[in-house]
Amino acid sequence: MTYVMSNSEAEYTDADFETVQRIAQDEAGICLPESKKTLVYSRVSRRLRELGYASFQAYLDFVRTPGGRDEMEKLICALTTNVTHFFREKKHFEHMESVVVPHLVAKLRAGGRARLWSAACSTGQEPWSMAMSVMTAFPDAPSHDVRILATDINSEVVARAAGGTYAEAETEGIPQPLKAQYMVPDATGELRFCGPICLLPVFRVLNLNAAWPMKGTFSAIFCRNVVIYFDEVTRERLWQRLAEKLEPGGFLYVGHSERVSSVDRCGLQQVAPTIYRKDR
Ligand SMILES: C[S@@+](CC[C@H](N)C(=O)[O-])C[C@H]1O[C@@H](n2cnc3c(N)ncnc32)[C@H](O)[C@@H]1O
Repeated sequence: MTYVMSNSEAEYTDADFETVQRIAQDEAGICLPESKKTLVYSRVSRRLRELGYASFQAYLDFVRTPGGRDEMEKLICALTTNVTHFFREKKHFEHMESVVVPHLVAKLRAGGRARLWSAACSTGQEPWSMAMSVMTAFPDAPSHDVRILATDINSEVVARAAGGTYAEAETEGIPQPLKAQYMVPDATGELRFCGPICLLPVFRVLNLNAAWPMKGTFSAIFCRNVVIYFDEVTRERLWQRLAEKLEPGGFLYVGHSERVSSVDRCGLQQVAPTIYRKDR
């Protein structure tokens, strides 16, 4: 069935939607239910317009050629949302500051190593919030072996995150004293993280549903508001893999509408509605 939104817009058939569903599943583990058909049209047709394609079929044929690899990434990005903000779900940061950070500080003071992971970091508000939490408790952190790995499938948001520069309005969730301590206004009036805090986060492009290059374990993993895009099987496989990446006693933080149903299999214990601890 042809599904055209208006006479001036691109041709979009049921078969095209099924192709997008298959691509999203194969490339990123993203599950697009039938109810997302119109949303997919409005998100993807922007890409068609930018590239000058008149039909979804022609565009989808292109993204599946070797020359369409970069566009494939843009297509996947068009299918997800990057909404985030500083200190989102404040309870997670309160828990991390009172339970994880003191343990991490003790470990670092004893000459050890500590790693945190923001596993779908979007434009960076999550890892930079984590960095402020660590710096507040332990200003000397950058001279120790501590890093916050910040990853996302979308290279554009990762580049923005790494730039650490935000419009004043975007920094609303940052308490004023932290803003004054860790950010400076740039020439355009935006605020940019500066100084030793910048040594903590390390930004990388990473598909959560592909292979992970990291060798070590993490004291805490934030994997929030991303598994909502995945089907049940993909979600459960991801929880299992994340649990394996936690050190014993480490914590997994998930989004407010997400939960790990397979806690026993993952060796996790629920300590709060969206916080899980790995058994020793
Ligand atoms: C709504 S944002 C969540 C940002 C942050 N974690 C938070 O809770 O505020 C979802 C992010 O997940 C990323 N994403 C979607 N599928 C992914 C995948 N397969 N691997 C890694 N990141 C993915 C998107 O690019 C997007 O930036």
